[in-house]
Amino acid sequence: MLDFAIETAKQAGSIIMQHFGKISSVDRKSTNIDLLTIADTESEAYILDRIKAAHPQHHIIAEESDLTEGNSDYKWVIDPLDGTTNFVHNLPIFAVSMGLQYKEETILGVVYNPAANKCFWAEKNGGAYLNDKPIQITSTNTLSNSLLVTGFPYIHDDRFEKGFDLFKELYGKTQGIRRLGAAALDFCFVAMGRFDGFWEFGLQPWDVCAGALILTEAGGKVSDWDGSPMPFSGTRVLATNGHIHDEMMDVLHKNLF
Ligand code: IPD
Ligand code: CA
Ligand code: CA
Repeated sequence: MLDFAIETAKQAGSIIMQHFGKISSVDRKSTNIDLLTIADTESEAYILDRIKAAHPQHHIIAEESDLTEGNSDYKWVIDPLDGTTNFVHNLPIFAVSMGLQYKEETILGVVYNPAANKCFWAEKNGGAYLNDKPIQITSTNTLSNSLLVTGFPYIHDDRFEKGFDLFKELYGKTQGIRRLGAAALDFCFVAMGRFDGFWEFGLQPWDVCAGALILTEAGGKVSDWDGSPMPFSGTRVLATNGHIHDEMMDVLHKNLF
């Protein structure tokens, strides 16, 4: 199943790259800034066709389609293009994300950044890899020595405003915060040691499923902002190297929204 997922994510990535830098029309989804392109739909159609052909009984949750109901304990969780806004603006920070769950537990994750030919992958209890090399989290153990990454939702409601207060509070306690625009890669960049921690709210299952496994297999930790298990829904996500988890949680726990 791992080889199948890596091969599928890479092929979907090459479909996306055929459109990179050439997008002339963009559709809108939940809000005016929630974008959809031909690359999202073609990538997803390719992935769904592959899964349905190879594993017709498996369930599939994919961002741009209705749930495919199967008759099996396996469920694929697919973001065909994570980082669509970057993609539309010719910024090469985007990825294909494929998670696989067995009886609701994630057992495999692949996140492929085609513009950099970086394939992050992990199997449960098998460690995490970037292409063929093992990756691991940083040893940074204080927030004051940390570089963090976060993201912001498309819906600009009350939580969006509160999110900026939180950003300011954490900014004052760290060496800096970045906003890259592709949640699946945010997890992987913590996993490979580029960042020490990542938090966000209002994500979706396909943003978090594969990346969370890759991070935990690289030695990191994921949870809800209050320390309970990270919700599959992606509503509130805290993902760190483990060493700064409690310190970040102290700030986030006071701001549950
Ligand atoms: C988005 C990205 C972004 C995050 C948004 C997501 P999309 O996914 O992961 O980093 O801040 O909340 O929706 O729409 O590009 O697949
Ligand atoms: Ca996404
Ligand atoms: Ca997407």
